[in-house]
Amino acid sequence: PADRLWWKHPLDRVEGTWIAIAFAWCMVMFIMMIYWHAYGRQNLSTETYKTTPEKFSAKTQAMVDKYTVRTETDQKIPVVAPPADVDVYLIARLWSWWPMLELEKGKTYRLHLTAMDYNHGFSLQPANINIQVVPGYEHVVKVTPNQSGTFSIVCNEYCGINHHTMVGRIYVK
Ligand code: CUA
Repeated sequence: PADRLWWKHPLDRVEGTWIAIAFAWCMVMFIMMIYWHAYGRQNLSTETYKTTPEKFSAKTQAMVDKYTVRTETDQKIPVVAPPADVDVYLIARLWSWWPMLELEKGKTYRLHLTAMDYNHGFSLQPANINIQVVPGYEHVVKVTPNQSGTFSIVCNEYCGINHHTMVGRIYVK
Protein backbone atom coordinates (compact mmCIF):
# COMPACT_ATOMS: atom_id res chain seq x y z
CA PRO A 1 0.00 0.00 0.00
CA ALA A 2 1.03 3.55 -0.74
CA ASP A 3 1.41 4.61 2.89
CA ARG A 4 4.01 1.85 3.45
CA LEU A 5 6.40 3.29 0.88
CA TRP A 6 9.60 4.38 2.64
CA TRP A 7 9.74 7.82 1.13
CA LYS A 8 6.29 8.57 2.46
CA HIS A 9 7.39 8.07 6.08
CA PRO A 10 8.52 11.17 7.90
CA LEU A 11 12.24 11.30 8.55
CA ASP A 12 13.12 10.15 12.04
CA ARG A 13 15.04 12.76 14.04
CA VAL A 14 17.96 10.41 14.75
CA GLU A 15 18.06 9.36 11.13
CA GLY A 16 18.05 12.98 10.02
CA THR A 17 20.87 13.78 12.42
CA TRP A 18 23.04 10.97 11.03
CA ILE A 19 22.37 11.96 7.46
CA ALA A 20 23.41 15.50 8.36
CA ILE A 21 26.58 14.25 10.09
CA ALA A 22 27.49 12.03 7.13
CA PHE A 23 26.90 14.88 4.69
CA ALA A 24 28.92 17.31 6.78
CA TRP A 25 31.78 14.81 6.97
CA CYS A 26 31.77 14.38 3.20
CA MET A 27 32.06 18.13 2.88
CA VAL A 28 34.96 18.23 5.36
CA MET A 29 36.84 15.56 3.40
CA PHE A 30 36.09 17.28 0.13
CA ILE A 31 37.39 20.62 1.38
CA MET A 32 40.51 18.90 2.74
CA MET A 33 41.15 17.36 -0.67
CA ILE A 34 41.02 20.77 -2.29
CA TYR A 35 43.13 22.26 0.47
CA TRP A 36 45.82 19.58 0.12
CA HIS A 37 45.98 20.00 -3.59
CA ALA A 38 45.97 23.80 -3.63
CA TYR A 39 48.01 24.63 -0.52
CA GLY A 40 49.78 21.40 0.44
CA ARG A 41 51.14 21.23 -3.11
CA GLN A 42 51.43 17.49 -2.93
CA ASN A 43 50.36 15.28 -5.80
CA LEU A 44 51.41 17.92 -8.25
CA SER A 45 50.16 17.52 -11.76
CA THR A 46 52.64 15.61 -13.88
CA GLU A 47 53.12 15.35 -17.59
CA THR A 48 52.27 11.81 -18.59
CA TYR A 49 53.08 10.01 -21.81
CA LYS A 50 52.65 6.46 -23.02
CA THR A 51 55.76 4.36 -23.17
CA THR A 52 56.87 0.74 -23.16
CA PRO A 53 59.38 -0.98 -20.85
CA GLU A 54 61.68 -1.50 -23.87
CA LYS A 55 61.69 2.14 -24.99
CA PHE A 56 62.09 3.48 -21.47
CA SER A 57 64.83 0.97 -20.57
CA ALA A 58 66.79 1.98 -23.66
CA LYS A 59 66.69 5.66 -22.70
CA THR A 60 67.63 4.88 -19.12
CA GLN A 61 70.47 2.61 -20.18
CA ALA A 62 71.83 5.32 -22.50
CA MET A 63 71.87 7.77 -19.60
CA VAL A 64 73.53 5.21 -17.31
CA ASP A 65 76.20 4.42 -19.93
CA LYS A 66 76.98 8.09 -20.32
CA TYR A 67 76.85 9.50 -16.82
CA THR A 68 77.62 6.76 -14.30
CA VAL A 69 80.14 8.01 -11.76
CA ARG A 70 80.37 4.99 -9.46
CA THR A 71 78.53 1.90 -8.32
CA GLU A 72 77.05 1.63 -4.88
CA THR A 73 78.71 -1.33 -3.27
CA ASP A 74 75.84 -2.10 -0.92
CA GLN A 75 73.22 -2.58 -3.62
CA LYS A 76 75.33 -2.79 -6.80
CA ILE A 77 73.32 -0.01 -8.36
CA PRO A 78 75.02 2.59 -10.56
CA VAL A 79 75.05 6.18 -9.41
CA VAL A 80 74.39 8.54 -12.27
CA ALA A 81 75.35 12.21 -12.27
CA PRO A 82 73.68 13.76 -15.30
CA PRO A 83 74.49 17.38 -16.10
CA ALA A 84 71.91 19.94 -15.04
CA ASP A 85 68.92 20.59 -17.26
CA VAL A 86 68.92 17.21 -18.99
CA ASP A 87 66.27 14.54 -18.90
CA VAL A 88 66.79 12.04 -16.13
CA TYR A 89 65.28 8.56 -16.18
CA LEU A 90 64.38 6.40 -13.24
CA ILE A 91 62.91 2.90 -13.31
CA ALA A 92 60.73 1.38 -10.64
CA ARG A 93 60.53 -2.38 -10.46
CA LEU A 94 60.20 -5.12 -7.87
CA TRP A 95 61.86 -4.02 -5.55
CA SER A 96 64.24 -1.24 -6.41
CA TRP A 97 64.70 2.14 -8.04
CA TRP A 98 67.28 2.11 -10.81
CA PRO A 99 69.69 3.84 -11.06
CA MET A 100 70.65 6.09 -8.14
CA LEU A 101 71.00 9.77 -8.88
CA GLU A 102 73.49 12.42 -7.96
CA LEU A 103 72.05 15.87 -8.54
CA GLU A 104 73.31 19.37 -8.08
CA LYS A 105 71.70 21.70 -5.61
CA GLY A 106 69.80 24.57 -7.18
CA LYS A 107 69.58 22.97 -10.63
CA THR A 108 66.32 21.85 -12.20
CA TYR A 109 65.94 18.37 -13.62
CA ARG A 110 63.16 16.76 -15.55
CA LEU A 111 62.71 13.41 -13.91
CA HIS A 112 61.03 10.72 -16.02
CA LEU A 113 59.54 7.79 -14.15
CA THR A 114 58.04 4.52 -15.18
CA ALA A 115 57.34 1.11 -13.68
CA MET A 116 58.48 -2.09 -15.35
CA ASP A 117 56.03 -4.47 -13.73
CA TYR A 118 53.36 -3.23 -11.33
CA ASN A 119 52.15 0.01 -9.82
CA HIS A 120 54.70 1.63 -7.56
CA GLY A 121 54.62 4.91 -5.68
CA PHE A 122 57.23 7.63 -5.94
CA SER A 123 57.48 9.52 -2.69
CA LEU A 124 60.27 12.05 -2.31
CA GLN A 125 59.60 13.80 0.88
CA PRO A 126 61.82 16.87 1.08
CA ALA A 127 60.31 17.81 -2.30
CA ASN A 128 56.79 16.91 -1.15
CA ILE A 129 56.23 14.75 -4.22
CA ASN A 130 54.03 11.68 -3.99
CA ILE A 131 52.76 10.18 -7.21
CA GLN A 132 51.82 6.80 -8.63
CA VAL A 133 54.15 5.23 -11.13
CA VAL A 134 52.19 3.13 -13.55
CA PRO A 135 53.53 0.57 -16.05
CA GLY A 136 53.14 1.67 -19.65
CA TYR A 137 53.26 5.34 -18.71
CA GLU A 138 56.04 7.84 -18.41
CA HIS A 139 55.51 10.45 -15.72
CA VAL A 140 57.58 13.60 -15.78
CA VAL A 141 58.16 15.71 -12.67
CA LYS A 142 60.42 18.71 -12.26
CA VAL A 143 62.80 18.49 -9.36
CA THR A 144 64.92 21.34 -8.05
CA PRO A 145 66.89 20.17 -5.02
CA ASN A 146 67.35 23.02 -2.56
CA GLN A 147 69.37 21.27 0.12
CA SER A 148 72.31 18.93 -0.07
CA GLY A 149 72.37 15.50 1.48
CA THR A 150 71.21 11.95 0.84
CA PHE A 151 67.52 11.47 0.20
CA SER A 152 65.39 8.38 -0.01
CA ILE A 153 62.77 7.63 -2.59
CA VAL A 154 60.15 5.58 -0.83
CA CYS A 155 57.75 3.31 -2.68
CA ASN A 156 54.39 4.43 -1.44
CA GLU A 157 52.24 1.87 -3.19
CA TYR A 158 52.08 -1.64 -1.80
CA CYS A 159 53.84 -3.87 -4.33
CA GLY A 160 54.39 -7.20 -2.66
CA ILE A 161 56.44 -8.96 -0.05
CA ASN A 162 59.49 -6.67 -0.25
CA HIS A 163 57.62 -3.42 -0.74
CA HIS A 164 59.19 -2.01 2.42
CA THR A 165 62.71 -2.51 1.02
CA MET A 166 62.03 -0.61 -2.17
CA VAL A 167 63.97 2.51 -1.31
CA GLY A 168 65.87 4.51 -3.90
CA ARG A 169 68.54 7.11 -3.35
CA ILE A 170 69.25 10.63 -4.51
CA TYR A 171 72.46 12.38 -3.54
CA VAL A 172 72.42 16.14 -3.71
CA LYS A 173 75.73 17.99 -3.85
CU1 CUA B 1 57.17 -0.70 -5.13
CU2 CUA B 1 55.95 -0.75 -3.07
